[in-house]
Amino acid sequence: MNITLQLSAQSCTDIAAQAYVVFCEHPLEHAPLESLKKIYPPLEAVIAQRTFTGKAGSSCVVTGVRDGQPAYVMLIGVGSLKDAEHERVEQFRRAVGTMIRAAEPLSITRLAVCAPSLELVGKDPWVLGKEFASTVYLAAYHFNGFITDKARCFDRDYDITLCIPEQHRGGVELGIEYGTRVGRAVNQSRQWCDLPALNLTPTDLANQAQRIAQAHDLKITVFDKAKIYQEKMGGIIGVSRGSSQEPRLVIMEYKSDAPKAPTLALVGKGITFDSGGLSIKPAVSMETMKDDMAGAAAVISTMEAIAHLKPKVNVIAAAPICENMINGEATRPGDILTFYDGTTAEVKNTDAEGRLVLADAMAYVKKHYKIDHMITVATLTGSCAAALGPFFAGLMTQDESMKNRMLAAGRISGDRLWPLPLHDDYRRAIRCDVADLCNIGSDRYKAGAITAGFFLKHFAGDLSYVHLDIAGTAFNVPDIAYYRPGATGFGVRLLVDLLSTWE
Ligand code: BES
Ligand code: ZN
Ligand code: ZN
Repeated sequence: MNITLQLSAQSCTDIAAQAYVVFCEHPLEHAPLESLKKIYPPLEAVIAQRTFTGKAGSSCVVTGVRDGQPAYVMLIGVGSLKDAEHERVEQFRRAVGTMIRAAEPLSITRLAVCAPSLELVGKDPWVLGKEFASTVYLAAYHFNGFITDKARCFDRDYDITLCIPEQHRGGVELGIEYGTRVGRAVNQSRQWCDLPALNLTPTDLANQAQRIAQAHDLKITVFDKAKIYQEKMGGIIGVSRGSSQEPRLVIMEYKSDAPKAPTLALVGKGITFDSGGLSIKPAVSMETMKDDMAGAAAVISTMEAIAHLKPKVNVIAAAPICENMINGEATRPGDILTFYDGTTAEVKNTDAEGRLVLADAMAYVKKHYKIDHMITVATLTGSCAAALGPFFAGLMTQDESMKNRMLAAGRISGDRLWPLPLHDDYRRAIRCDVADLCNIGSDRYKAGAITAGFFLKHFAGDLSYVHLDIAGTAFNVPDIAYYRPGATGFGVRLLVDLLSTWE
């Protein structure tokens, strides 16, 4: 997939292309349709016939003629200006997704696009460029590598010209640069999630992190199995013990030039396959468990994007990576693990493994770095997915100002968050008679997403701490045109926007 995005101050119909795209607001009154009538004279009649009014999610595609050749006209609805600004931007993203989805079966790769009014995206040309570019990348992503019938593959190179007034060129160009970095990082994260566990082992993912660090001169530390045992990281040891794949702990560092920049730690769950261990999952729940490293993929990909974008914060990304499998060595329910910081936990359920590996990574980062805020990103609980479904990830924190920053980043990025109460009342759910903590919450407290959050919070201690449960949003999100079945790369857009807008 190769995407070329160019800007032009010409009217879109003056550009040679296979398709002419106009984003239309609802109601249609102001849509710039005049020049399209040269390509397709009965345009207004067709619009009336199909009752196309520019509503969000709608589109109207016809074939006309330009210079004696067939040329498509695509009208894509972006909804009403009356919606809240972040909702309008999201409708614009979905409209960009609809544009690519419409282009795919028609084999259209050269498009001339008439930009929507700046009103739609909050009057900022930079936002227009950012959202257009990042979403073209997201929408054009396909996980095709294992499909041999090329007719089924939409792996295309796009050549897209975005037509904008000359005075906006500078802003849109910078936005496109940013959006391109973000879009590529999201797709990299999706690619790793979509790869079967057979093709992306813990060692493979750690090697990918190493490759990125080398390419961008980021400092990186990778602990192998021997080092993890030597450091007594009992959580990672306990979870990986039943697998023939060696575990890894990856730590990447980005340092900003800005004086007095704060330091954020991003810790991502990297279970390359979660069978549940001896507390084995039912077959259907296991089908998607190659995606259980989506948190690690998000934080590692975020590091690549920010290596280019250079935000004014220091960032430590940590990813404990291993498989949760079963053999004669596998951790048993009732076993007690001792983590890097000396805390002990009884493993009542081997399927609650994400918190066990995150605990060691959090404790290590807390001990060895001066951190201002710590954020965990994890496909942690089915409970969160059941509570919030596929469109919002669970946000848990006791730091009000971080909560507001995160919610704002969620709204501007499109990776949306919804708060769950990380209230101290839930803490007692993970009390244990035989160890410091229990790795599952007591039945009486329900709220599995929150009790998991409390388990993690123990290892952040007194740090400002945010937990994101992305179990519902990391893969198989329906109805959003710029996604496909499979991984979403959730978290990358969010974290890159959070870090880039930090003040
Ligand atoms: N990886 C799963 C959580 C998950 C479920 C992610 C569905 C994505 C989609 C996690 O390791 C897990 O199995 N959690 C258990 C915890 C329980 C045993 C306390 C769960 O949610 O059922
Ligand atoms: Zn599990
Ligand atoms: Zn898991």
